[in-house]
Amino acid sequence: MITAILIGAGQRGAFVYGEYAKKHPEEFKVVAVAEPLEERRTECIQTHGISPDRAFTDWRDLLALGKIADCAMVCTQDRFHLEPVRESLRQGYHVMCEKPMSPNPEECVAMGEYAKQYKKTLTVCHVLRYSPFYSALKNIIDSQVIGDIINIQHLECVGYWHQAHSFVRGNWRNSKSSSPMILQKSCHDMDILAWLTGKKCRKVSSFGALTHFKKENAPKGVARYCMGGCKARSQCPYDAVKIYLEQEEWYSETIRKVVALEGTNEAVSLALKEGPYGRCVYDCDNDVVDHQVVNLEYEDGVTASFTMCAFTGKGSRVMNIMGTRGQILGDMEENTIEVLDFLTGNSVKTTVKTGNSGHSGSDDKFMEGFLKTVQTDGAYSLSGAEVSVESHLVALAAEESRVTGKTIEMDEYRKKIAERI
Ligand SMILES: NC(=O)c1ccc[n+]([C@@H]2O[C@H](COP(=O)([O-])OP(=O)(O)OC[C@H]3O[C@@H](n4cnc5c(N)ncnc54)[C@H](O)[C@@H]3O)[C@@H](O)[C@H]2O)c1
Repeated sequence: MITAILIGAGQRGAFVYGEYAKKHPEEFKVVAVAEPLEERRTECIQTHGISPDRAFTDWRDLLALGKIADCAMVCTQDRFHLEPVRESLRQGYHVMCEKPMSPNPEECVAMGEYAKQYKKTLTVCHVLRYSPFYSALKNIIDSQVIGDIINIQHLECVGYWHQAHSFVRGNWRNSKSSSPMILQKSCHDMDILAWLTGKKCRKVSSFGALTHFKKENAPKGVARYCMGGCKARSQCPYDAVKIYLEQEEWYSETIRKVVALEGTNEAVSLALKEGPYGRCVYDCDNDVVDHQVVNLEYEDGVTASFTMCAFTGKGSRVMNIMGTRGQILGDMEENTIEVLDFLTGNSVKTTVKTGNSGHSGSDDKFMEGFLKTVQTDGAYSLSGAEVSVESHLVALAAEESRVTGKTIEMDEYRKKIAERI
């Protein structure tokens, strides 16, 4: 049994890691929580039977207790990871830090250094490395059936409703208060490309913009809130009422709880009237891109091209991996992998079995992996700071390229960041 302190009982802290503790009481137990929002803190206390003297409004008070569990789960928002991570490591906790580690490259590198200094593991929640789908892809690549990878095309379909929910109306809409889209959403993709190729990135260039979700694209007759008399609702795919109250999709329950913790139609309706998730998508304080492309050159001349785009039906990831002896086509939405062998001409398509936790079964697999890291004192590590810092630097370099219009040489970029620490 691994015990944990939970820093931030939000969507990830409570709904993902808290849920895992509920489902696997013999493996993982939350023994203390820090969460400023009373409703969330109370629910967490009740769910996990936490004693009142171990529940706090701020992580500093919780960590002032000293080390009271095996690990610390740092699940605060993007810009608030560094300090609780540093203090938890200092106290002797193994740490799980949500991605992105930080929007600041120096902080990412510093976190990796703290883990070394305090001799504790720092695992970053790069869930895809643990997913049944990408684990299967990695095994196929490592078996050399397609020979050496020459190029990967990788498409991240964000999903039109997901973009509207998280990146126009929601927590990650503005890079100044959270982080740029390429880091927030796609550091997973920069990470998975590095993992699958097994190569270090040498050069990065990127283009992208916020093109659609802007005031000038608003149709005639819109209102500040969808429920506030908007006349364009019936023709708008981003209508909040449709997304949160009328759609009966698998994701509805999860995102409804983000809009209003109770998740009932009444609570959600009320929240949409004047809350952030009821706002017109053409009238929000968003600045993150709705499409971005990244070109990457790795060691040995291996290349990859990545496209992230909001304007897709379902949220998914699709990969075309081209090797010297074969090709792999992978679709994470369908969980299918097709392998073509150039020599025999044979093509085999398989469907990967996934669990029913978030990110196509990856969230539970991540927890299994993280618990193993804690149990083995870091002997097992799939997404430790050493690999995750590098993925974050590539994502941040891509953002620098998008903003400056320049190609970034990764060796120079790494050197520049290291000199600033
Ligand atoms: N691994 C993934 O695939 C994945 C997916 C979604 C989000 N994330 C990341 O997870 C992190 C959390 O996201 P979320 O959706 O759970 O956000 P959230 O806003 O729902 O949760 C963050 C919680 O931290 C709490 N908090 C704020 N200040 C605090 C303090 N001083 N002490 C303790 N708690 C404090 C907030 O009240 C909130 O409840 C973000 O960095 C996000 O980018 C990762």
